[in-house]
Amino acid sequence: MKFPVKHVLACALLAVGAATAHAQTVIKFSHVVAQDTPKGKAAEFFAKKAEELTQGKVKVEVYANSALYKDKEEMEALQLGSVQMLAPSLAKFGPLGVKEFEVFDLPFIFDNREELHKVTTGPVGEKLMKKLESRGIKGLAFWDNGFKVFSANKPLHTVADYKGLKYRIQSSKVLEEQIRTLGGIPQVIAFGETYQALQTGVVDATENPPSNFYTQKMHEVQKHVSMTNHGYLGYAVIVNKKFWDGLDATVRGQLEDAMRQATDYANQIAQDENDQAMEAVKKSGRTTIYTPTAEERAQLKKALVPVHEKMSGRVGKEIIQDVYQATG
Ligand code: LMR
Repeated sequence: MKFPVKHVLACALLAVGAATAHAQTVIKFSHVVAQDTPKGKAAEFFAKKAEELTQGKVKVEVYANSALYKDKEEMEALQLGSVQMLAPSLAKFGPLGVKEFEVFDLPFIFDNREELHKVTTGPVGEKLMKKLESRGIKGLAFWDNGFKVFSANKPLHTVADYKGLKYRIQSSKVLEEQIRTLGGIPQVIAFGETYQALQTGVVDATENPPSNFYTQKMHEVQKHVSMTNHGYLGYAVIVNKKFWDGLDATVRGQLEDAMRQATDYANQIAQDENDQAMEAVKKSGRTTIYTPTAEERAQLKKALVPVHEKMSGRVGKEIIQDVYQATG
């Protein structure tokens, strides 16, 4: 039997197309912050490295700034497999039922990044990541952001200044308790809706590392920042476990390599990004930046450390002790 040359060629092209389509795996990586942040930059870095190391077998599509999903929806989308990769803040795992992650939200639990890294790069971090597996999620890495500052439309100097304000918080019971302990009213609001909530007066105060504060333009709607560094905000890079386990082992190894490099990069740039963001806030001239005195910070610490004990029933005494030991 003879086929026209045209027909044979068309079939061959179709076959090549199908093979290419089959060969390329797409990872949708969704996140809620601006591209110009530690997480945004690290996600782009990972995408580039992943494509490079897998020689184009994997394409990573990064969706920044809640373009695809907001906080709550992105977790659901990951479990459903509509996206394959996320890097939610460690304060957003409570609603999944993995309450131990809220240990990172305990105020003043880390004095500095070195202490934090003892947890995230050691057995405690590993133990935490393992807890995600029963939820169909695999944890690949911890990425740094930084220590949070408080902001409001009034100066925040003494502990009494924090009282009576309405605060936007992330979906963490520890953060809720932190605000109540200060005499404030906490309200969980998606990150992507925070600017508007501050602008319209739904809430009048919040907390975040400077990189998020600046890139979400919160300085336009918050007159005062206090450099409290009272708690930490960082990320867990997570994937849909079924998707990850189903990858070709060589490709998975290359992606793990890309993730290791992206993690080093994220952790290298995080402090600088936050310092630069604070400089930019200062330059904007719209927000007054206050550094608490040693005494004011000590008072804030004294007020907030009891949150550890109050929340030990939720977070788990064991994991809190693990963190104390690792950092001690
Ligand atoms: C927030 O909601 O404040 C942060 O988790 C945003 C982020 O991902 O850094």
